[in-house]
Parts: sequence; structure tokens; C-alpha cells
Amino acid sequence: MTGGAGYIGSHTVRLLLERGYDVAVVDNLSKGYRQNVPAGLLHEMDVASTSALTGLMRQLKTEAVVHFAAFIAVGESMAEPERYFVNNVTGSLSLLSAMHAAGVKHLVFSSTAAVYGNPHAVPILETFPIQPMSPYGESKVMVETLLGWFDRIHHLTSVCLRYFNAAGSAPDGALGEQHEPETHLIPLVLRAVLSGKPVTIFGEDYDTPDGTCIRDYIHVEDLAEAHILALEYLLAGGSSDQFNVGTGSGHSVVEVIRAVEEVTGQKVPYVTGTRREGDPASLVASSDKLQSKLGWQPRSSELKTIVKHAWDFARQHT
Ligand SMILES: NC(=O)c1ccc[n+]([C@@H]2O[C@H](COP(=O)([O-])OP(=O)(O)OC[C@H]3O[C@@H](n4cnc5c(N)ncnc54)[C@H](O)[C@@H]3O)[C@@H](O)[C@H]2O)c1
Repeated sequence: MTGGAGYIGSHTVRLLLERGYDVAVVDNLSKGYRQNVPAGLLHEMDVASTSALTGLMRQLKTEAVVHFAAFIAVGESMAEPERYFVNNVTGSLSLLSAMHAAGVKHLVFSSTAAVYGNPHAVPILETFPIQPMSPYGESKVMVETLLGWFDRIHHLTSVCLRYFNAAGSAPDGALGEQHEPETHLIPLVLRAVLSGKPVTIFGEDYDTPDGTCIRDYIHVEDLAEAHILALEYLLAGGSSDQFNVGTGSGHSVVEVIRAVEEVTGQKVPYVTGTRREGDPASLVASSDKLQSKLGWQPRSSELKTIVKHAWDFARQHT
């Protein structure tokens, strides 16, 4: 696995180990945390190091790769597109070359709802137009394209999981969301509660019932489960495909704030700012395809459960 010291990767490592898989993690710790990876599993390495990756996969007789390693902040990618294309696209190409050299034939890829840009309707189906609005989203589209060619030419099969908003934490508080800088709503709202410093709501004049943006929040453990199903599907001979991972129901920023107030018993300090460029009013997934083809079901993605787990983690780690 690449990027297994990060947020979603570390939860997936844990679930894979619980299910009895042998796991090795490649992470350069540019954003991840050593303590997120169980002792002995971390190979501190950059995905750009093609020959080192090839050697590692040969040595471990790797059967499949789950590829999380990437930079993830949309806003940052608008300021520094080069870094995003180099790390996310060149890094993935290096990994694919290494997999080809080592004879590894299956990959599960962390894609994103950002490939759809500002969709014409919700819920979003996998067949909707691909029209990213940031270098971050474009970098994921480019990797999806590379994967198409690696399948066609080298018979490397892949599943692209297009996640919506990953959120929540392991219920025991051992792992959780710790991005620096943090750009995601739920941890930012929880930080506001803990620090007393107001969080900013970007725009109250969207065409939504309360005027704030609507997003589809998916519990990180439900997301981890989707990776295991995708891996098992590929190992069983499934052909390359793309799936949305979301719950099918959205929550506005105001609803998230209310849920945090209910769970924490505290008022959320917030201020209202102007809209951020490129923020669509509503992003909600149809995950019917993932449910019908891979048998996935969201189990922990009720908003209050997500907030409760994220709160338990934030209190222990802030
Ligand atoms: N968090 C979300 O809501 C979300 C939504 C959609 C897609 N994604 C995708 O999911 C993946 C994981 O996201 P996350 O939230 O866990 O991010 P994260 O930053 O917590 O984890 C990414 C990990 O990759 C590592 N990494 C980055 N570049 C690397 C490189 N060149 N070589 C080796 N390791 C490298 C980082 O050190 C980090 O541990 C990313 O690909 C992201 O684009 C995340």
C-alpha cells in the first residue's frame, strides 16, 4: 500500500490486517505519521523511487497495490499546480512502472468526486461528464487515464474509487483525521469548539435549503471496507472499473455545525465568509453501482456517528 501512514490509508491498513492480509506500507511521511503504521510494516520511501519500489514488490511477492499516496488539497493545487502534477501523476506513473516491472497486476486507486467538477445534477453517477475544476482533480483524472492504458497494454486491472468526503475516525480513537493544513469541514469545526477560534463558513447564498454547501460524508471505516471489496474483486479476476463511494445523502455546512453542537454539547463559534471559487453547491454520490456490483453498504456513515468518532479523536489528539 502507498500512503498508508495517512488518514484513509491507516484505517485501511488496520482493516486489512484484521482480515488476515499481509500488508506493507510505502510512505515518505511528507503528510503521514509514523505512529499510524504498526511496527515493522512501514517502508519510508517515495513513490517516485521506481527501482526501489520494484525491488520491494519483488522481494515481498506483492499481489496487489492500494494506492493512496498523493497531495490532497484542492486550494493548494490551484496555487501550486506543478507540485500536484509531479507528486500525484508522475508518482503514480512511477508506481505503475514498478508494478509492471515486478509483475504486479492489480491496483485500487484513490480517486475523487473532484473528477466531476461542478455536476449538472445530483446524485452523481459514474457516467457523468469528467470535468475537473482544479489541478488536484485533473491529476486524478490523468491517473485514471494512465490506468486505462496500463490495462489495455499490460493487462494491469484497477478499480478507481471516487470518494466523496471522507470523515470520522476509528471508534477506539487510535486513528483519525490529522491533515496539516486541515481543509476539511468536520475537523475544522471540532477545532473551533476546542480552541474557541471561529471556523469560517464559505458562502451562505447557495441554491440549497439553508444556503450552505451540501456534501456527502462517508465514514472512513466504510471507505476502508470499499477498498477491501475492490481488492477482492480484482484478485478474483474482476475487470477494471470506476465506482463512487458516498452515502447518497448530503448534509449542509449548517447541518454539520448543528450535529457537532449536539454531539459536543457546545456552541460552535463561526463566521461567514464569501464563497470559495469552484465550490459546487451540492456534491452527493450515487453509490448504487458499488452496492450492486461489489456488495458494499455504508454502516457507520450516519452524520452523528461520524461526528462522534471524529470528536473522540479530536479531544484525545488536539
Ligand atoms: N480525505 C478525503 O476526503 C479524500 C477525498 C477524495 C480522495 N482522497 C484521496 O485519498 C487519498 C488519501 O487521502 P488522505 O485524506 O488519507 O490523505 P493523507 O495526506 O492523510 O495521506 C496521504 C499519504 O500519502 C503520503 N504521500 C504523499 N505523497 C507521497 C509520495 N510521493 N510518496 C510516498 N508517500 C506519499 C503522505 O505522507 C500521506 O501519508 C489521496 O490520494 C486523496 O487524494 C481523499
